[in-house]
Amino acid sequence: MESMIKDIGLAPTGIQKIDWVKAHMPLLNHLNEKYSKNQIFKGINMVVTIHLEAKTAYLAEVLKNAGANVVVTGSNPLSTQDDVAAGLVTKGIPVFATHGCTNEEYDVYLDKALDIKPELIIDDGGDLVNMLHGSRKELVANLIGGSEETTTGVHRLKALANAKKLAFPMIAVNDSYCKYLFDNRYGTGQSVWDGIMRTTNLNIAGKNVVVAGYGWCGKGVAMRAKGLGANVIVTEIDPVKAIEAVFDGFKVMPMQEAAKEGDIFVTVTGCNDVITKEHMKVMKDGAILSNAGHFDVEVNRNHLEELSIKKPYEIRKNIMSYTMADGREIYLLGEGRLVNLACGDGHPVEIMDLSFAMQFLAMKYVLENKGKLNNELYVLPAELDKEIATLKLEAMGFSFDELSAEQAAYLEQE
Ligand code: NAI
Repeated sequence: MESMIKDIGLAPTGIQKIDWVKAHMPLLNHLNEKYSKNQIFKGINMVVTIHLEAKTAYLAEVLKNAGANVVVTGSNPLSTQDDVAAGLVTKGIPVFATHGCTNEEYDVYLDKALDIKPELIIDDGGDLVNMLHGSRKELVANLIGGSEETTTGVHRLKALANAKKLAFPMIAVNDSYCKYLFDNRYGTGQSVWDGIMRTTNLNIAGKNVVVAGYGWCGKGVAMRAKGLGANVIVTEIDPVKAIEAVFDGFKVMPMQEAAKEGDIFVTVTGCNDVITKEHMKVMKDGAILSNAGHFDVEVNRNHLEELSIKKPYEIRKNIMSYTMADGREIYLLGEGRLVNLACGDGHPVEIMDLSFAMQFLAMKYVLENKGKLNNELYVLPAELDKEIATLKLEAMGFSFDELSAEQAAYLEQE
C-alpha cells in the first residue's frame, strides 16, 4: 500500500525515538521475542488506529514481527509525529497520518487504511469503528473483531452494543486493570503536566489548578498537580467522585465558581462544553485552558473565538491567545486537543508498555476465539491482567508474596 505521510526524509529521528522506547518496554520486548518465533498473526490484516508516536510505532512493529500485515493511522490530527510515521514506513509498515491534518484528511486516512480489508483492528476513540458501521460497512464481513484503547471509545461502543448495533466483537482494553489503573491515572497524571510545563515553561507551584472530572485520568492529574505544589480545585457532576476528591484533600466547587479562581484549567471528562463562555467571562487575566479528554469538545473553542475582540494569535508554540473585550488574555494550549499528546509525547513509555501489552493480548484473544465471540463488548479475562502485572513486576525487579496452601485453604473457608 502507498503510504500518506508528511515526509519520508524525517525517518532518522523517528527511528531514534522508536529505538529509545524499545529499550524501556520490557513487556512488548517479551511478546516480540515470544511471538515473532511462532508467527501467531501470520497473514492477518490489521489496522492500528492509535495516537501515532513512538510507543504506538513499536506496538505496530511487534504485531508485524508476529506475522500481521499492519497498517497504521493516527487517532487524532495533532498527536501524529511525522518523523515517527516516516520511521515506520521505512520499516515496511504503511502509514496514513500527518500532523495537523484537517478533519477531512483524517477521515481520508482512516478510509485508505481500511482498504487493507482488516481482520483485526485496534481503535482509540471509536472513529475507526464508526467508519466500519457507516461508509465502510461492507468490510465487516471480513472482520474477526477488535479492541478499543480509551474511555471515550468504550462509551461509544457501549452505546452501539446497547442498541444491538455493534457489528463485530470488541474488547474494551481500557477497562482492564492493567490499563486504566496505570495509563489513565499515572500516565495522564504525568504526561499532562509534562505537556503543560514544556509548552508554557511556567511554574506550577502556587498556582490554582482546576481539574474538571475526577475519574481515573482526573485523579492522576490532580494528584500530580498537588505534588508539584499547586492548589487543586476539582469540578465534578458525580457526587460520589466529588466526595472522593474532597477526602483526597481537594476543594470541590461548580465550574462557574472555579472559573474565577483558576490559573490553569485541565478538562478530562469525556463530556462536551465543560468550559464555555459563561466561565470564560469571569476568568482571570492570563488563565490557561487545556484539555486531556479524548475529543476537543471540552473547552468550547467557538466561544473563545466569539469572545475574542482580536484575531486569536499564537503567542508561543502551541499556545493561542484570545483577547477579551476588557483586555484580559485567555490562553488555549494545543487547540484544546489532548494536551499530553498535542503538546508532548504522550504517556511515559513504561506505562504504555502495560497498555500495549494488553492490546497485543487482546488481538491474540480475539483471534483465538474466532467464531466464539458474539457482537458484544468484552473485557479481557482477569488472569491476563495478573500475567502482565507479574511480568512487569519481574522486569522492574520487584517480587511479591504467594499464598501458602494453608492460607489459600483459610481464605477459601472465609
Ligand atoms: P472516567 O469515566 O473515569 O472519568 C470521567 C469523569 O468526568 C467522571 O467522574 C464523570 O463524572 C466526570 N464528568 C463527566 N462530565 C463532567 C462535567 N461536565 N463536568 C465535570 N465532570 C464531569 O473517564 P477517564 O478514564 O478519566 O477518561 C476521561 C477522558 O480522558 C475520556 O475522554 C478518555 O477517553 C480520555 N483519556 C485521555 C487520555 C490521555 O492520554 N489524555 C488517556 C486516557 C483517557
